[in-house]
Amino acid sequence: MMLCVDSRIRDIATMPRGGPDASWLDRRLQTDRLEYLDRDDVDDLKHKVMDSLDRAGRRRGIGIHDKCVQMVLREVADVPAPRILELGAGLGGLSRKLLEKHPTAQVTVTDIEPAFVAGMAAGDLGSHPRATVREMDATEIDVPPGSYDLAVFALSLHHLPPELAARVFAAGTRAAKKLLIVDLPRPPAPLHIVLLAAVLPLIRISPLQHDGFISSLRAYSPAALRALGRHADPSITVEFRSRRGLGPTVAVASRSTRHRQPEGSGV
Ligand SMILES: C[S@@+](CC[C@H](N)C(=O)[O-])C[C@H]1O[C@@H](n2cnc3c(N)ncnc32)[C@H](O)[C@@H]1O
Repeated sequence: MMLCVDSRIRDIATMPRGGPDASWLDRRLQTDRLEYLDRDDVDDLKHKVMDSLDRAGRRRGIGIHDKCVQMVLREVADVPAPRILELGAGLGGLSRKLLEKHPTAQVTVTDIEPAFVAGMAAGDLGSHPRATVREMDATEIDVPPGSYDLAVFALSLHHLPPELAARVFAAGTRAAKKLLIVDLPRPPAPLHIVLLAAVLPLIRISPLQHDGFISSLRAYSPAALRALGRHADPSITVEFRSRRGLGPTVAVASRSTRHRQPEGSGV
């Protein structure tokens, strides 16, 4: 039995970002290199990347924050006053727009990075009557089961290696009825090479492109997301809401009550 658990953990730890059956070429298109956003020795670059990302995300109509808000609203359409947990909120752009668009949503806005959390707490979100800002690790969500109607983790899952990403599935589907993951797409390998080649010349001059290049190599495919959910708990189902083309990968994970395992099982 112990042997079986050990090999399950080893399998998920070494799972390619393209999923268990990723092609030879796809397996070459990944890296363990850290983004500036993941490092503690480059604060200035980290803040530059986060500011650029948030600026891009805020662009009305075309920014990712508006798109994520629409996805969140669709998932909680039948809940009159939804309780929503945002994980990895960065500077809080998504939650800010969500609070604007939904008059009764209660939003807990969190990130693992203390400086981002301090910035959000000191700004408008910190004093918003329907928002709570706090530090939280998406892999260890310290709230009672079922505390939220929806947890959302946007543009962040690829930052985590597979063992930790699986824990987000376990913790997110325990804390909330549904876990919405929005992340960079993983294009088919030949197209991925072309897109990476186009960005490569810019990575030395633009911190955002540097992190974007690494993010693309670390993006999980739908097959990988399914495997992460399964590894986290066999009762977790993962459905996809992604559109055709190069838009974000959008997945909704939840636990089917029929297969629900006792508290504390899974990863
Ligand atoms: C690329 S940023 C995305 C920020 C924001 N969601 C957005 O769309 O603008 C990734 C965020 O994930 C956060 N993050 C990384 N690992 C995390 C973890 N284990 N738990 C919670 N947040 C995490 C980082 O601090 C960072 O703010």
